[in-house]
Amino acid sequence: MILNFGSLNIDITYAVDQIVKPGQTITSHGYQSSCGGKGFNQSIALAKAGADVFHAGKAGKDAPSLIEKLKENNVDTSCTVISDFPNGHAFIQVDSHGENSIILYGGSNQKITGAEIDEVFAHANKNDMLLLQNEINNIPAIIRKAKQIGMRIAINLAPITEESLQYPLELVDILIVNETEGAALAGCESPNDIIDRLSERYPSCAVVLTLGSEGLIFSRNGKIFSKPAYSVEVVDTTSAGDTFIGYFLESVYSGKSFEDAADWASRASALCVSRAGSSDSIPSRDEVAEAKLNLRT
Ligand code: RIB
Repeated sequence: MILNFGSLNIDITYAVDQIVKPGQTITSHGYQSSCGGKGFNQSIALAKAGADVFHAGKAGKDAPSLIEKLKENNVDTSCTVISDFPNGHAFIQVDSHGENSIILYGGSNQKITGAEIDEVFAHANKNDMLLLQNEINNIPAIIRKAKQIGMRIAINLAPITEESLQYPLELVDILIVNETEGAALAGCESPNDIIDRLSERYPSCAVVLTLGSEGLIFSRNGKIFSKPAYSVEVVDTTSAGDTFIGYFLESVYSGKSFEDAADWASRASALCVSRAGSSDSIPSRDEVAEAKLNLRT
């Protein structure tokens, strides 16, 4: 199984012409409240891709819909704790080009204790894969615990923070970052330099750099591979990265090559950006298989 230890947010999304500027007040022309969080979205994407997913995390009593939604999508929530802390939420603006800007409030996602981590890993074994994002607390302890058990570890270092630059990433097997995260972690700007520096720093780790409409580059075992994105009309980029990660890791976990997994996951994220919404825009496996898509030239 894939153990996703991750965040659960309520997303409050506003459709705007342009992302608000400092000192400005703007009117939105659409509003939606939905289940989200990078952890939640990636569990849904994994499950839709066909993985056996176990979601660990901490929700507030004020957001029961998150756990219901995970269960509806066949995600195991037996290690998702319900707490008295207010649930995490995200304030999202989506502009007329489909670009977003997000403010997070961590809430219960930032209250995970050592005892809760031990309880989660009592259900895991070395054949399982751990997936993390950077919206919960205690990430270094979770990485070390998974490593002790011998699990394969994948991390999506999003959002990147000062603290996350010190995480024990040398223990990780698959690192997935976008251009902004990759630049902050590597300390350089160009995609090729980012890949070179990160693979030099973490030689036993596969590094996947997602580049939005420019596709992706990854390096693994000293080899570099790049591929363009599929071409679609962009409606909303929220959750495109989460969709990619869920489909990619399900595919890698079930034994596909990284190249095939990256192609499959790029198809899924292209469909996601062509629709509005956060977790609601994650496509099903059948939709991904049936979609007629062309690579960007
Ligand atoms: O990646 C999209 C997600 O980022 C949103 O669902 C929001 O909750 C933030 O975590």
